[in-house]
Amino acid sequence: MEKIEQEIKSLTEVLNQYNYQYYVLHRSPVSDYEFDQLLKKLQHLEASYPHLAQPDSPTQRVGGVVTKDFASVQHQYPMLSLGNTYDEQELRDFDARVHKGLEGEAYEYFCELKFDGVSISLIYENGHLVRAVTRGDGQQGDDVTNNVRTIKTIPLKVSSADLPPKFEVRGEIFMPKKVFEQLNREREDIGEEKYANARNTASGTVKMQDSAEVAKRKLDCFVYYLLGENLPYATHAESIQALQNWKFNVSPTFKACKNIDEVLDYIRSWDKKRHELPLETDGVVIKVNSISQQQLLGYTAKSPRWATSYKYKAESVSTRLNSITYQVGRTGAITPVAELEPVFLAGTTVKRASLHNANEIERLGLCEGDYVFVEKGGEIIPKVTGVDVSKRKGDAKKIQYLTHCPECGTELQREPGEAQHYCPNYNGCAPQITGKIEHFIQRKAMNIESLGEQTIKQLYERGLVKSAADLYALTKDQLLTLDKTKEKTATNILSGIAASKDTPFESVLFAIGIRHVGKTVAEKLAWHFQSVDTLSKASKEDLLKAPDVGEKIAESVLEFFKDEKNKIEIQRLRDAGLAMETKQTSYEASSSILGGKSFLISGVFKNYEREQLQELIQQNGGRIVSSVSGKLDYLVAGENMGPSKKEKAEKLGVKIIDEDTITQMLKG
Ligand code: IVH
Repeated sequence: MEKIEQEIKSLTEVLNQYNYQYYVLHRSPVSDYEFDQLLKKLQHLEASYPHLAQPDSPTQRVGGVVTKDFASVQHQYPMLSLGNTYDEQELRDFDARVHKGLEGEAYEYFCELKFDGVSISLIYENGHLVRAVTRGDGQQGDDVTNNVRTIKTIPLKVSSADLPPKFEVRGEIFMPKKVFEQLNREREDIGEEKYANARNTASGTVKMQDSAEVAKRKLDCFVYYLLGENLPYATHAESIQALQNWKFNVSPTFKACKNIDEVLDYIRSWDKKRHELPLETDGVVIKVNSISQQQLLGYTAKSPRWATSYKYKAESVSTRLNSITYQVGRTGAITPVAELEPVFLAGTTVKRASLHNANEIERLGLCEGDYVFVEKGGEIIPKVTGVDVSKRKGDAKKIQYLTHCPECGTELQREPGEAQHYCPNYNGCAPQITGKIEHFIQRKAMNIESLGEQTIKQLYERGLVKSAADLYALTKDQLLTLDKTKEKTATNILSGIAASKDTPFESVLFAIGIRHVGKTVAEKLAWHFQSVDTLSKASKEDLLKAPDVGEKIAESVLEFFKDEKNKIEIQRLRDAGLAMETKQTSYEASSSILGGKSFLISGVFKNYEREQLQELIQQNGGRIVSSVSGKLDYLVAGENMGPSKKEKAEKLGVKIIDEDTITQMLKG
């Protein structure tokens, strides 16, 4: 036993060390493969000897704890806001107040960037992270510890000889820009609406109920403030140094400044460079460095007198609107795009910006040849914010919105109440057809990776494929007529197409590409109606009874199945061997921790909705049953469980477990 304990401890330590080197220092001490092997070994040992698992085990980073209501916690030190300054003069005024407050004593500043994320308070006791609390109203916030544990750069345990027994670290949780962009790409792929900006997405993520989901979102955290009783540090710089020594993730962008002129230099030096950082920054935080001087200056009701922030102006540039082009999506939706004279803005060259729809063009009042202002705020996507009217010529003509499809010439339509124009030539307009096929083959749909955008375009142009169903009739000889397509590629394409016939109905339904039916909605529809036949016959009332289905989706499904051409296409796909039904009614198991055991859920639970607990059990390889019998493996007892069920279970010798036990079991 001692040997196993030793092994668990040393694996924990080694993996935590690798994590730190990788995520904080950005070095790769071992390959991903080696890391995963060690982690698996540790997971395995912990599963067999749960009582030996260390509180700082890296296995906690994968999450799995579900919190329904976050407990409200009082902050020991209120989380105050900061005063703002917007120009040099206001900053010099702040400096004059500090100078006056310190009655002629010499002082220094410490500058950091102001990170635009979600502020967090991390409480450590005896080196262990015991609590993580959101800012809330500044006096009390939400306990989000389980979610925060999944953030790899936040130490779960700190060991150092000079560690205070209790301390608090403040920082900013954020979603790195790259992670945010990737997440949005994935959402776009599966037909879900994109998130507006990284900050709000990080904030939503911190409050998700399932920490396993949080773990997947790859949040990060920069820390910038150490608090506690009788800490031995004379300056903020020393406390930041201590945080770095204790392996916290401190952004290396800070600088001690001798006076306000150096502060201004710092501000200027980061104005452009800050866009290269992994997160949005909206300014600079300026702190008096000496902690005794901070105490001397004290606080107003809202913010410290010893610190302020300088806010960068949202960068805005003026550039020429060369033209407006119109894109046709797979559903026929038309998106106008501003083609701009290339201009450098906040770290990248901007050439185009979406204008969304005709209303937006109207709102901006765009004229031909206009100069427009382009901004990138918290959003990474450039936006046209207005017209530089001073540069407009007297006879400038108002932009007339397109009336006919730029691809097929069909007259555009606009439904009452909809912002978007559509090209109604769904089965004859080239980008709609190829767009639909691209949607059909994507990973989360039929997953035919051997086919790419270019191949589809060629297949369409040569008249070989006019709809998704045509893919299943392709021959090798036909494929060999395509550019750059040799024997091996052709074989690959054909085997990819053949393999896609095993795709489950949920994904087929998503692949078919009904407007407004994204991946999640397709799953819900599939589970609710079980087959394409039932779905196609469903009335509006039937549709509205399905989970997650509202007016818009119901209308769209009805519309789709009204069209004879769509019915024929579905029949052809069915004939090709695609699944048009399912027996499943909820999520497929993603782990087999519960090994096919049967569960009956009864009563109410603190941390779960009943349906949610059922789903979690099913996802982890358990089965849900609805009555107590001798074959039942576990009765999961919540509060107010019916006494007859309990009695029967006891009589039949069924194991009765409570909420904590099932939570432990789900963690494996
Ligand atoms: S220090 C009492 N440093 O800005 C001063 N705050 O408006 C404590 N923030 O709620 C804050 N970057 O969430 C500090 N380098 C930084 C910061 C920073 C971002 C946030 C923080 C705070 C808000 C104040």
